[in-house]
Amino acid sequence: MSKCQTKFEVDRIRQDFPILAREVYGKPLVYLDNAASAQKPLVVLERMTSFASREYANVHRGVHFLSALATDAYEGARARVRTFLNAGDSAEIVFTKGGTEAINLVAASFIAPSLKPGDEIVLTVMEHHSNIVPWHLLRERHGAMLKWVDVGDDGSLDLDALDAAIGPRTRLLAITQMSNVLGTITPLEEIVKRAHAKGVPVLADGCQGAVHERVDVQAWDIDFYVITGHKLYGPTGIGALYAKAAHLERMRPYQGGGEMIREVTRDKVTYADPPARFEAGTPPIIEAVGLARALEYLSTLDLKAAHEHERALYTQAREAVREFNWLRVIGDAPQKGAILSFECDGMHAHDVATILDRQGVAVRAGHHCAQVLMDRFGTVSTTRASFAFYNTMADVEALVGALAKAREVLG
Ligand code: ALA
Repeated sequence: MSKCQTKFEVDRIRQDFPILAREVYGKPLVYLDNAASAQKPLVVLERMTSFASREYANVHRGVHFLSALATDAYEGARARVRTFLNAGDSAEIVFTKGGTEAINLVAASFIAPSLKPGDEIVLTVMEHHSNIVPWHLLRERHGAMLKWVDVGDDGSLDLDALDAAIGPRTRLLAITQMSNVLGTITPLEEIVKRAHAKGVPVLADGCQGAVHERVDVQAWDIDFYVITGHKLYGPTGIGALYAKAAHLERMRPYQGGGEMIREVTRDKVTYADPPARFEAGTPPIIEAVGLARALEYLSTLDLKAAHEHERALYTQAREAVREFNWLRVIGDAPQKGAILSFECDGMHAHDVATILDRQGVAVRAGHHCAQVLMDRFGTVSTTRASFAFYNTMADVEALVGALAKAREVLG
């Protein structure tokens, strides 16, 4: 197998991620479960520790020194997310505990209050459950209709089918930027244009896409965009919703509690301006600071080269498994990111993953929280290898070798 020809300095980058140096079962760790959660660079862990040990207090509440310091760090984190997404204003960034909460917020605060039975939410069959179940809740509770856009057998999205699904009762198009199973990347700018031409706002689930693609919410003119910290090399427990200011202004609070109010009396309550209106209670402060450090770390990398490197890893793996006539890849769209999902003849996905694991290769097996998509492809589970910029061609070789071994043992 040829060496990776990209100019990305992967060996140097790997030094930033201490966990990559460890062994499992006496073998070098080959971590290919990045779509589930990415590993963290040491700078993120150090920043969270130094913040917690030297600068920590609650935010927006105290007049004391540390509270001011922590508030600056927390609001600085919001500004960092704004830069990463190229939003126009930090007030358009709402911190949440992850991508799931961000989508639930839009469902509950933007759609539900004005939803009439029979109003439609348009989705694709390749959405993660986090971008399906919040809409099912609206179906169950308010009579929303879910309209599904199919993908082709190669996993690509048919834009004409998408157009056809958007009708006069459509309230929102909710679509992934990158499928967590197929790897399919959707052309968000074009999609937003088409939806807006019919007066329909768009929410994009960027939990996978933001990791592998450039994000520009202003250029796309998108209404809502969602990220999660832990896939972006940051901590768990933190994510963000970008929403256009005009939408946030008219959205009702999602949860009630401290710091989201203007005034509370025995008889009434008035609410703070966005984004505070949507951040009831003490927020994930240390996590926000960690996420900001992760984004700062990413900003020091040549992300174009990093993304090319990921694509090269994927291509190498995709080519190598063509040799295996007992393995079926699910997701071969022309525009796709570094995710390889597959089924193996006569072998259960979990068994394959277990054999790989014993060889040090960490992958995910199951339905990947995408049961609608599993159904579309006539299966219940796949094995999935997902690549990050810190993976190497040696990791790809280890995956391919481990798969051959799985075939020997199970086939
Ligand atoms: N959404 C994550 C995955 O695809 C957890 O594995």
